[in-house]
Amino acid sequence: MPRYLQGIKEEVERLSKLTAELLDLRRLETRAVEIKREKLHLQELAEEVVRRYENISELAGVEFYTELEPVPFVWGDRLRLEQVIGNLLDNAFRFTPSGGQVRLKVGPSPEGVVLEVKDTGIGIPPQDLPHIWDRFYRADKARSRISGGGGLGLAIVKQVVEIHGGRVEADSELGKGSTFRVILPRA
Ligand SMILES: Nc1ncnc2c1ncn2[C@@H]1O[C@H](COP(=O)(O)OP(=O)(O)OP(=O)(O)O)[C@@H](O)[C@H]1O
Ligand SMILES: [Mg+2]
Repeated sequence: MPRYLQGIKEEVERLSKLTAELLDLRRLETRAVEIKREKLHLQELAEEVVRRYENISELAGVEFYTELEPVPFVWGDRLRLEQVIGNLLDNAFRFTPSGGQVRLKVGPSPEGVVLEVKDTGIGIPPQDLPHIWDRFYRADKARSRISGGGGLGLAIVKQVVEIHGGRVEADSELGKGSTFRVILPRA
């Protein structure tokens, strides 16, 4: 395929992914989605998602550690919760330069279960931190190039978690890394 056609193809793919995600977010926001209520073992579900990131970790030159403890059951939609973990891991690997580390933890919390994704990446400026959950928000212009994404991943994470009766938290230190936490109530 000629180079210019390849470029157009990539752009079309990017836009159609963005459109699909935007539609999905809209449906989540208006609660116009069907969310299954299965009794789930979050540590097992996390293990499955982790397998998909082993290659990415190797390609990125970023070490990937996991600490998956047994946790109480949660009610939830398997695919949706996989999407949550995937979006957080996508970001962690995307914003962590090679030589860094990403750590995924699942453990019990007073409310039920806490899932934490911690990286040693570029971090988020304090003034941006409250806004990262907003649709299309990207911490600065320079990042949108690294990112290549549409800025919808975290907005989707927040909606899905809130629909599950949970909440999200983020801490970050610029140049040092970021920690994202998802807290879900026990079933
Ligand atoms: N682990 C992280 N380290 C540093 N910055 C982050 C991290 N996760 C998110 N951010 C910042 O928050 C912004 C929003 O993240 P979000 O996942 O919503 O969008 P995106 O990754 O840019 O695009 P998309 O997820 O739609 O592909 C990012 O563009 C980035 O600036
Ligand atoms: Mg993202």
